[in-house]
Amino acid sequence: MILIDDSITTPAFIYDENEIKRKLTDLCRIQGCKILYPLKPCAIADVLRFMAPLVNGFSVSSLFEAMLAKDVVKNHHVIHLTTPGLRPDEIETISELCDYISFNSLSQWKLHRSRLNSGIKQGLRINPQLSFVEDDRYDPCRKHSKLGVPLTELLHELNDVSSFKHINGFLFHTNCDSTDFDDLLETVKHIEAYLPDALKKISWINFGGGYLFDKSDNVEVLTEAVSFLKRKYDLDIFFEPGRGIIGDAGYLVSSVIDLFKSDNRSIAILDTTVNHMPEVFEYEYQPDIARASRNGKYKYILAGASCLAGDIFGEYKFDQPLTIGEKIIFESMGAYTLVKANMFNGINLPSIYAYTVEGKIVLKKRFCYDDYISRYEVKSNVTE
Ligand SMILES: Cc1ncc(COP(=O)(O)O)c(C=O)c1O
Repeated sequence: MILIDDSITTPAFIYDENEIKRKLTDLCRIQGCKILYPLKPCAIADVLRFMAPLVNGFSVSSLFEAMLAKDVVKNHHVIHLTTPGLRPDEIETISELCDYISFNSLSQWKLHRSRLNSGIKQGLRINPQLSFVEDDRYDPCRKHSKLGVPLTELLHELNDVSSFKHINGFLFHTNCDSTDFDDLLETVKHIEAYLPDALKKISWINFGGGYLFDKSDNVEVLTEAVSFLKRKYDLDIFFEPGRGIIGDAGYLVSSVIDLFKSDNRSIAILDTTVNHMPEVFEYEYQPDIARASRNGKYKYILAGASCLAGDIFGEYKFDQPLTIGEKIIFESMGAYTLVKANMFNGINLPSIYAYTVEGKIVLKKRFCYDDYISRYEVKSNVTE
């Protein structure tokens, strides 16, 4: 747990360098597996700079993410890209910035392959058609999925071996917040059962992310999957968990700005909103709060500052009554919060702070009215 002093301005997003380092040091112990950090859960440039010496590279899913990764790592690390949204007007720049591209579909690959830099490693995102995620909204292997080439289709195309001579890797990403690496091993064995010859021809495979490795009881199965593919097919293996690395390293700190009763229940209005952590609303889950107590005598509905009636975090109990100005700390907020946050209602975004390895809180960025107006102000000199 980080120590927060009164100097911080809320709402605040605080990332904990020690926690990031701990997670990455743990991951790097997995023999033979190269670790990429995907920018999608948290793309703060200083977080990426801090991670750079601890990872083998970064993975991105758009032109802007690729530009940011390149800005941060220059030519010291590999950059992998996969996205269903490759645009014809971006492919040349993307191909200059990235080292690996895993095309999301065969049609995407056929359309863009002639415009790639010669050194780029071309791969395909495959859809193993093996589902582990119950909620369809987060299941990359759902029926009629838009993510990756279905194995059954790939098998059919692979008969045309000549056209595949430039494909030298595969990526799959099939899980969400899983703690069970049996899912991953099963996926690897399933792919092998379908594509044993293709595995002999490629030189790398990317396992994607979707695993909370430090909450898992069977991380050794990840090692088993890695060494199986290395031993039998001599492949380079990449693993790119996002939430698993950054999720527990982020806190959202807010202050109580109003307290009142509504239909006999106590309401505490905070200076943050679900729009700073949209997954709370999207997944309908109740985030963890430091100091909340299971048997506390004082019960409050914690609500956000926007005018949306459903801008509510849930009902929490505390041992002491809340007071105006008191800080409320949301835990495990590192992933998919700031990257998805918006300024709905003109509510400012959380300031960004680092909790450094030396135990200091350092302000990195404060947003202001210019950040808000820059999205809406009409500039007279707009060009196509
Ligand atoms: C291709 C790919 N890799 C990695 C990730 C990171 O996933 P997570 O944050 O669940 O580990 C995602 C998330 O959508 C992804 O699509």
